[in-house]
Amino acid sequence: MAVTTQRAGPLSALQVMQDAPVIPVIVLNDVRHAVALARALVAGGIRMLEVTLRTPQALACIEAVAQGVPEAVVGAGTVRSAADAQASALAGARFAVSPGYTHAVGQACRDAGLPLLPGVASASDIMRAQEDGWNALKFFPALQAGGTAMLKAWGGPFGDVRFCPTGGVTMANAAEFLALPNVACVGGSWLTPLEPVAGGDWARITELARQACQLARRAA
Ligand code: 3PG
Repeated sequence: MAVTTQRAGPLSALQVMQDAPVIPVIVLNDVRHAVALARALVAGGIRMLEVTLRTPQALACIEAVAQGVPEAVVGAGTVRSAADAQASALAGARFAVSPGYTHAVGQACRDAGLPLLPGVASASDIMRAQEDGWNALKFFPALQAGGTAMLKAWGGPFGDVRFCPTGGVTMANAAEFLALPNVACVGGSWLTPLEPVAGGDWARITELARQACQLARRAA
């Protein structure tokens, strides 16, 4: 779609969501796996890659993908502070995803030029994010916080918002979320299970990505 390379110019949060039906939520424990994993996902059609800041190696992994896999667009996940946002941008992240939202995180992302998918789980969260100009939001934790019923309810008052439900979404239930008009994509860790990543089974990762790309979406 609109974004083709790592250096393709300004990117919006909505573009991040619209590139593929699924944003993989990646936890990497070994920087040596980062480039191969990113290439495997790209080979399966997934280019927007969320590498979570949950391991000591996460920033090094972001840097490795940013430099070594130009056809991917690497972002930082689990961004919880302004410092996280700044470090992510320095490492080469091109977008940020946060589990919740604070004005400080939003401002730091804006200052760093990072489109942000802020995490929301309530109407008040959405209003705070929208007050700061963010309209492409992560619904987290999606299944636990109300799932598709919650998204349908939000469709009335927040008809201008597009969501990326994440948390408890799997290949088995992704289609239900993606059928909603306010869901642009879903996020999930199921594309990068620990075992094939640790064992270097990149063909398996590519196959999971391919399957995910075949999911249909309703939202424009
Ligand atoms: C997360 O932040 O861990 C994501 O929501 C992934 O959740 P999942 O493992 O349920 O896909």
